[in-house]
Amino acid sequence: MKEAGYEVAIFPGDGTGPEVVREGVKILGTLAEGGPAPWRATEYPGGGQYFLRTGREWEPESEAAARRADAILLGAVGWPGAMLANGDIAGRALVLGLRESLDLFANVRPCRLYPGVQHRISGQYREVWAPKNVDMVIVRENTEDLYTPARGRLRRADETEVAVDTRIITRKGAERVIRYAFELARARLRGAPEDGVRRVTCVDKSNVMEGCRFFRETFDRVAADYPEIERDYAYVDAFTQWLVRNPEHYNVVVATNMMGDIITDLAAVLQGGMGFASGGNIGAEHAMFEPVHGSAPKYAGKNQVNPFATFFAVEQLLRWLGDRHHDHRLVGQADRLERSIGAVLADGRARTYDQGGTVSTSGAGDLVAAAIRGERR
Ligand code: IPM
Ligand code: MN
Repeated sequence: MKEAGYEVAIFPGDGTGPEVVREGVKILGTLAEGGPAPWRATEYPGGGQYFLRTGREWEPESEAAARRADAILLGAVGWPGAMLANGDIAGRALVLGLRESLDLFANVRPCRLYPGVQHRISGQYREVWAPKNVDMVIVRENTEDLYTPARGRLRRADETEVAVDTRIITRKGAERVIRYAFELARARLRGAPEDGVRRVTCVDKSNVMEGCRFFRETFDRVAADYPEIERDYAYVDAFTQWLVRNPEHYNVVVATNMMGDIITDLAAVLQGGMGFASGGNIGAEHAMFEPVHGSAPKYAGKNQVNPFATFFAVEQLLRWLGDRHHDHRLVGQADRLERSIGAVLADGRARTYDQGGTVSTSGAGDLVAAAIRGERR
């Protein structure tokens, strides 16, 4: 427990990022009403739009603040036309850059369908999967694989002949993310919806790729330390169909970086869409939490997008901080936030446009804030 309080660095970023982050900050404020807040939240500019204005992605002070902070909340980065000289998106420093420099090795994406949330399929809103059947966490390696800068082009006479990305799987990278997944399966209250079994599924392409063979070997080696947790395996292609057909089988899933990137967006459909998908980028010393939907330039400034992903990111942040510092105040707030979100979603009164509703971003924030206040009384 940190008596002096925790520093939370907030990067609203681009597009709709500031709109959803504003609601996240509102919720943090509501949770702290009636007592001294156990944290200080400070906002810092940065991202693609900032780059277009200033020529810099962010300031050295902001980077130092991210390093110093006890936890980071990120909105979204990326803006049309905001590109660095090397072709990377401006704002990369805030996402991929922090994953690298703070060694945030586990990308943790909870995928849970709350009662009252609909699936948008072919433009229609339906309840396709039963909420009780979708309750998993996908853990994605976050520092290596095809995301390492071992890439480049071979040019001859200014003409690109070959472009190469190198897939790198290391012992350390695989081992620590797999261990994270098993620890998570051990700590989670619930097993898989299908049968209550605590299970970790290793998703890979070890029938073809060497890096995946090594990842699976490492999985087996780590799994030996967790005899009470079931081991499960899926080739990534087959996994995509099983995920949609039998989500109830999955409890904790672990995958390499690029495959994890793809399967987590597919999984977001099961939880009602990207508007509900949050992610934690977690390392040994630092962590950053974000709604994973991106900056959605088309919707920027309209107070229209779904802020629930940000509320779930705030919940993840509070829970991580609370667990790490053995601070029951924060875990209690995370629990309270989760219950309030669940209550607001259950009766469908907070449906934003992506759910076929008309509630605004700030309107959804107000409803969750009211639920938090109501619960306290
Ligand atoms: C994610 C995103 C990022 C990634 C992008 C914004 C670089 O898609 O967090 O899943 O590819 O990891
Ligand atoms: Mn992604």
